[in-house]
Amino acid sequence: MFSFLTSPKKEKLPPLHCDIHSHLLAGIDDGAPNWENSLELIHALTKLGFKKIITTPHIKHDTYRNDAQGILSKLQELRKILDEHKIDIEIEAAAEYYLDEVIYDQLIAKGPFLTFGKNYLLIETNFLSEPYQLKDFIFHAATQGYQVVLAHPERYAYMNMSKAEDLKNRGVLFQLNSISLCEYYSKSIQKLAHQLIDKGWINFLGSDCHNLQQAEALGVSMDLKYYHKALALPLLNNAL
Ligand SMILES: [Fe+2]
Repeated sequence: MFSFLTSPKKEKLPPLHCDIHSHLLAGIDDGAPNWENSLELIHALTKLGFKKIITTPHIKHDTYRNDAQGILSKLQELRKILDEHKIDIEIEAAAEYYLDEVIYDQLIAKGPFLTFGKNYLLIETNFLSEPYQLKDFIFHAATQGYQVVLAHPERYAYMNMSKAEDLKNRGVLFQLNSISLCEYYSKSIQKLAHQLIDKGWINFLGSDCHNLQQAEALGVSMDLKYYHKALALPLLNNAL
């Protein structure tokens, strides 16, 4: 009875204009395999309201041996193709660094790293267990002026709210995958995503878009109550 008095209203908030995590550069990781698919994904993201995309190919020593030079030259290629097709979208590139010994050593050797915005450094980790270098990496990155952004904290099997709190206290920023909200990965990942939003610990939303199926799931997620709850947080996407 009178449920309209108590049920939370979906706030009308402006859409996110900038996506900060995707795999759209053709043929260099497990995202778009060619430029045609890359354009399809960009078209799907623009239809969802994005005006700017910071795409972030994987850099992972044992599978995707990308480097800054290779990524930036692919970015130039994409910009040219977008111009030729008269597609109006602002596009930049950084990287999603997989934390392993190679990346740790690269940090100790003082980089360089591809970052975005205010020296934001996007990292991901092993999905099952916390890397032993994680806390040292965070410390050394901070002393070098990087702001570490952990990609999709909700997806790691080792993550829980007390680990998340510890990482927040160490200055780590969190980027949630929006598609975690529509149970794209699993029920338990969705649950952790909800808890992180409830705590207000999310700093960025990202599509982590690799393919059209994920672009579609993003559209579904953007209609959910928790997506709107996340949009009400002081997200840093809006300052980029
Ligand atoms: Fe990713």
